[in-house]
Amino acid sequence: MKYRSEITGVGSFVPPKIFTNFDLEKMMETTDDWIQQRTGIVQRHWVDEKTTTSDLALEASVRAIKAAGLVNKDIDMIIFATLSPDHDFPGTGCFLQAKLGIPEIAVLDIRQQCTGFIYGLSIADKFLQSGSHKNILVIGAEVHSKGLDKTPNGKNIAVLFGDGAGAVVVSRKELTNEKTESRIITSHLYADGSFAKELWIPAPGNALGSDRINKTMLDEGMHYPQMNGKTVFVHATKRMAECLLHSCKEAGVSLDEVDVFLFHQANLRINSKVAEMLSIPESKVFNTIQNYGNTTAATIPLGMDDAIKAGILKKGMLVASAAFGSGFTWASAVWRQ
Ligand code: UT7
Repeated sequence: MKYRSEITGVGSFVPPKIFTNFDLEKMMETTDDWIQQRTGIVQRHWVDEKTTTSDLALEASVRAIKAAGLVNKDIDMIIFATLSPDHDFPGTGCFLQAKLGIPEIAVLDIRQQCTGFIYGLSIADKFLQSGSHKNILVIGAEVHSKGLDKTPNGKNIAVLFGDGAGAVVVSRKELTNEKTESRIITSHLYADGSFAKELWIPAPGNALGSDRINKTMLDEGMHYPQMNGKTVFVHATKRMAECLLHSCKEAGVSLDEVDVFLFHQANLRINSKVAEMLSIPESKVFNTIQNYGNTTAATIPLGMDDAIKAGILKKGMLVASAAFGSGFTWASAVWRQ
């Protein structure tokens, strides 16, 4: 029997507290004008003191499992993408598994930053197609706000990131019609580690010495994200356009046939540029950065859920997705919703 992987449930969650660009004006030397013009961001959600990445993931997961018409114990694997884990180890997937009350199933944490969700979806697809698993929960969740430099020193990065979570259940189904059935049609994953230090958090890390982190490193802000924004921007546009085209070609679909483009949300200008390069009408690109900022691994499932709720993404539609981020990593996928 041949199998297909179908996205059967989607869920998302953002913490209730909103920080507008005007709120940020009071914290760091920035302006609503600058943020909107350079990035498109209007507001982001940030957690309170107590909330963790696995808490956000739990909310999104419960919604995705319910939307799939399943119960927690139907899930037989968790793939968790985050760059902002609850703790250094174990992976946040283990904390989520305990909160979902589904012991003994496989849990896999992956670290591909903004590209994490597409990597996770692709891994789930391979497991499902092999026949070894039935219902895999793929999550992207992030709590960035606790790890940002919110002083004027960090204004080039802190304004960009938001907290949130998105989850999907991907289920194994029998494949009987490749052309019409809902399924992940293709996915392509890439990385180039020679750019690792263009967007990273250096500390703590054993590459820094036996204490991993010390007062000097803290004073220098090495525990905060560091980014060469212009380099990331240039590579992001090029790579996203490139891999999106490749996935569509491999899937045997033209860009015109795609109903909705779900791109990573790092900068509205990146997405406009990709759309322009490929002559994709902007109306087909579903953007959410205005409301959430960049939520890295959570971005694509969060956008998918919003697009469904807005009635823009419907069952059976053709979706093409692309992401780029730290690593550098980039990835694309085409699926029938
Ligand atoms: O998801 C992970 C992938 N990340 C990305 O894809 C991010 C890609 N890069 C970008 O989106 C853009 O490079 C940024 C939005 C991060 C920055 O835009 P930019 O047009 O490249 O600005 P810049 O870094 O060259 O900074 C321009 C100016 C500087 O001032 P001077 O030196 O020209 O006087 C900055 O100090 O803007 C200043 N600046 C700010 N001003 C107000 C930087 N951050 C801010 C701020 N508010 N928040």
